[in-house]
Amino acid sequence: MSVANSVSEISPRPSIEGIVEITRADMDRVNALILSMAGSNVELIPQIAEHLISSGGKRLRPMLTLASARAFDYSGEGHVKLAASVEFLHTATLLHDDVVDESALRRGRTTARMIWGNQASVLVGDYLLGQAFKMMVEVGSMRALAILSNASAVIAEGEVWQLSAAKKMSTEESDYMAVIEAKTAALFAAAAEVGPVIAEAGEPAIAAMRRYGMALGLAFQLVDDVLDYGGSADALGKNVGDDFREGKITLPVILAHRHADAAEQQFWREAMEGGSNDDEALARAMELMARHGALDETKHRARAFGAQALEALDALADTPVRSALADVVDFCIDRIN
Ligand code: IPE
Ligand code: IPE
Ligand code: MG
Ligand code: MG
Repeated sequence: MSVANSVSEISPRPSIEGIVEITRADMDRVNALILSMAGSNVELIPQIAEHLISSGGKRLRPMLTLASARAFDYSGEGHVKLAASVEFLHTATLLHDDVVDESALRRGRTTARMIWGNQASVLVGDYLLGQAFKMMVEVGSMRALAILSNASAVIAEGEVWQLSAAKKMSTEESDYMAVIEAKTAALFAAAAEVGPVIAEAGEPAIAAMRRYGMALGLAFQLVDDVLDYGGSADALGKNVGDDFREGKITLPVILAHRHADAAEQQFWREAMEGGSNDDEALARAMELMARHGALDETKHRARAFGAQALEALDALADTPVRSALADVVDFCIDRIN
């Protein structure tokens, strides 16, 4: 047996199997609720919603809500509706995001907007947002409602902020961090926070779960932004290079630009601001990122946030739920290893 084989047998790739197992029964109910809440007499609504919903997705965020309620011995029913509403916020955001980003592929399928058009995608996204809020209200926790409604507004704010920063090489690393905190990490944080909230856990536990979700979400988006330059469409279910073609100023671009000489700086301006972003330019961008270690540096930041997420879990009792939540962090980081 080769050394590589024996090593991989000792430490298998991190997986989300733990959280999947722990939340399986509840997730069945969440998935049923998602399908029923995506229903409507207006035919186009279930058509579009189910196109996206039935194509899968990792369902990470609702599993976080279910597991974080369970971590604090929640015994009621509200976690299922909150988890479904969290996934609806995410699904609505994806419908809107693919319009904004003019994306053609999502979850391995042609995007809804390419089939039914931008207008219908935006409106069905709005419908799902409304349905999400109906479920949250039914749960009856004003605090959970406050957390999730805040996240919903912050996500939209982040997307608008990103839109105004697009094609601007003057975008700072701090702007980028604020954008990804808003558009992605806010929902991870809310998903993890509402579990202990409805379980009526103590304030330190609630704060720890929020920190966990926030750091995990930041790591998640940093990894996603690396994969847009270093991943494969097959593995991601979405096209690589989209960020480049859109002129989206992500951290790999900011870092490569920071280390660039004058000619390279001009290349970045022409590509990101001037729209010279054909396949040849994308190849050059990747080459410059490699030369200046921009992807490695981005991965390094992702790992640091992953470590913060794990640290936040120290506040939890050492249970299988805690190790499942820790595995989620390792799983997200491992996508770039
Ligand atoms: C996609 O999120 C949007 C980002 C925050 C990058 P996921 O990668 O969790 O999407 P699905 O739900 O698994 O498809
Ligand atoms: C991710 O946005 C976060 C949201 C969808 C709000 P991106 O545009 O970076 O994610 P992908 O690449 O489309 O999944
Ligand atoms: Mg997008
Ligand atoms: Mg986007």
